[in-house]
Amino acid sequence: MEFTVVRMPKIIFGPGTRMKVGEEAAARGRKALVVCGRGSVRREGYLEQVRSSLAESGVEGVVMEGVEPEPTVEMVERGRAKLQRSGCDIVIGLGGGSVMDVAKAIGGLAGTRESAAAFVAGPEPPRPGLPVICLPTTSGTGAEVTRNAVITDPARRVKASIRGDSLMPAVAIVDPELTLSLPPEPTAASGLDAFVQALEAFVSRGASIITDDWSLRALAAIAGSLRRAWRNGGDRQAREQMSLGSLLAGMALGSARLGLVHGMAHPLGVLYHVPHGLVCAVLLPEVVRFNAAVAADKYGAAARAMGAGRTVDDLLDWIAELYGEMGVPSRFEQLKEDDFEIIVNQTLASGSTRANPRPVTESDVTEILRRLM
Ligand SMILES: [Fe+2]
Repeated sequence: MEFTVVRMPKIIFGPGTRMKVGEEAAARGRKALVVCGRGSVRREGYLEQVRSSLAESGVEGVVMEGVEPEPTVEMVERGRAKLQRSGCDIVIGLGGGSVMDVAKAIGGLAGTRESAAAFVAGPEPPRPGLPVICLPTTSGTGAEVTRNAVITDPARRVKASIRGDSLMPAVAIVDPELTLSLPPEPTAASGLDAFVQALEAFVSRGASIITDDWSLRALAAIAGSLRRAWRNGGDRQAREQMSLGSLLAGMALGSARLGLVHGMAHPLGVLYHVPHGLVCAVLLPEVVRFNAAVAADKYGAAARAMGAGRTVDDLLDWIAELYGEMGVPSRFEQLKEDDFEIIVNQTLASGSTRANPRPVTESDVTEILRRLM
């Protein structure tokens, strides 16, 4: 047996734990750049709570708002410039996957003057960066515990990772209360991403006895709570289980990596501007069918952990029922044959694709795309 488990952040989990951010920041710096999105964390009062926690611990907070979904290298550069001007020595990401990725990129690139674009699908940034604290407000990407940031470079039409140890957050504060006000649509999209990530990490080539435990617990937590959190956002128990599931899936994929769904999801996301979680959800059934020849046992174990049956077919039935209820389409209407070449090339170049349990060829990807049209 041989496996690798990467170093992880200090993890603080539980309702109300966001108020520990000041204490954690004070242990690592004096002035924090607080990165967030387009208004919801301010509207819900979370930003003010984080700022008061920082102030109580004697840490100054500088706010950078306006991070958009599918963040670009330009957004990262804006944050790096603000970091320089303000003299912050710690970065806090308060938001969903995009916000956390931008915060991680800003902190992780603090040790270099080179452009962010040079590191997208490029070399690892030099260590050390600045310490980053992540507080997720969705239950989805698990970005609070991974060492990469997914950033789009529009000039090259590439959506890929900046990856390296300097991007690993120092602290992940996972407070399920931060997800209570998330509307149904992003609850579905981020929750489906967490589900796909748990399943891909479980069957991945990099999976180990350690990550398998995390993946199975993630699958059980998500299967039992995704529908409930989507139907009733105020269901605290469901929100807590989704936060737990998403965290565990992030821990698993950080070491095990992912698979073909994520390999294909990035080019499709950048071409058609569909939310990442939804792209992954649409791709999943076809990829499960493709992988079934080599991973049937594991898919069966996943189904058992989810209370969904015992076989690949049971798993696919469970997924179909979930999608029917949540309105997840089974096809990509936007898909154009002219785009196949770029999708295939980027899919085959992806590290996620290389971690897929069944080796993937050009014609495999084309075949899957055809089925999805
Ligand atoms: Fe994902």
